[in-house]
Amino acid sequence: MTKNSYISGVGSYLPDRVVTNAQLSKTVDTSDEWIRARTGIAQRHIAAEGQHTSDLGYRAALDALKNADMSAQDIDLIIVATSTPDLTFPSTATMIQELLGIHQGAAFDIQAVCSGFIYALSVADAMIKSGQGTNVLVIGAETFSRILDWNDRTTCVLFGDGAGAVVLSANKPDVKDAGAGILNTFIRSDGRYRDLLYVDGGPSSTQTVGKLRMAGNQVFRRAVKELSSSMVQCAGEMDVKIADINWFVPHQANQRILEAVAKKLDLRRSQVISTVAYHANTSAASIPLALDVAIKDGRIKRGHQIMLEAFGGGFTWGATLLVY
Ligand code: UT7
Repeated sequence: MTKNSYISGVGSYLPDRVVTNAQLSKTVDTSDEWIRARTGIAQRHIAAEGQHTSDLGYRAALDALKNADMSAQDIDLIIVATSTPDLTFPSTATMIQELLGIHQGAAFDIQAVCSGFIYALSVADAMIKSGQGTNVLVIGAETFSRILDWNDRTTCVLFGDGAGAVVLSANKPDVKDAGAGILNTFIRSDGRYRDLLYVDGGPSSTQTVGKLRMAGNQVFRRAVKELSSSMVQCAGEMDVKIADINWFVPHQANQRILEAVAKKLDLRRSQVISTVAYHANTSAASIPLALDVAIKDGRIKRGHQIMLEAFGGGFTWGATLLVY
């Protein structure tokens, strides 16, 4: 029998501290009008001093476990997508494993920047389908506030901190109308574009953490192109028509990117889940954060067909087609 992987539960966590555009414009040469018009962002959440990526991921994992009606002891694999680990090593995944009191199975990090959650889901799906995991916690967790140059208005207004998590399971959840699970995953990268979005530090090169640098409008153009084509390919490989998909849950970087992609693929605005206004770009955390909001507010229901998609530094990009 062919194995499949199913979403048993979704959860998220945002730090308490909210910084609005107006508050930011007191210390940065920017304005609420500019940020809203160019990005759709209204506010971001910022982790407290001493609150680390693992803390955020842990809280999101607890929420996902609760919604999956599972305990931490049901988990045999943890994959964390992050570009802002607590430390260079050990992995943030092992730290979350310990916070959850899990002393079995395996835990590791994946680094694909804003596409990290799509990459992590793709690995988790493959491991479940090959019999190497039963209940996998797939977490996107970030504290991008720690790698921002707060003197660079072209980047610091765009990002925030947060975490989202999914429990991916080998067994179909015992829930009415539970769908067919993950139908297809699609990941790609192209290192020629590394200089357009990167962090200018690292253990091997500078022995510093570094700050985020981005050529925003070049990233924007490429993101719209690759996001559109990866969704078409991901759906096409399964003979699924884009028009038949209920919901699109994109990486939340910029409302204008969401709208440009929607226009290219002829999607209705109401089909595209957008939470970027409330938490800005949380990199690998943004897809599960948006997914969680739309499940909790009742828009996404069991049996609905969903496309997830992301684009980020590397460049990396990808898409996931699933039936919830
Ligand atoms: O998540 C991973 C992928 N990342 C992304 O997808 C981000 C992709 N890029 C973007 O979202 C957009 O390119 C940005 C939001 C970063 C920038 O928007 P844009 O429409 O491409 O603006 P721009 O960079 O072309 O800048 C336009 C103007 C410039 O002024 P001049 O040269 O026209 O006088 C900037 O200096 O806006 C100015 N500007 C600002 N003004 C006020 C740039 N940042 C700000 C700011 N506040 N924060």
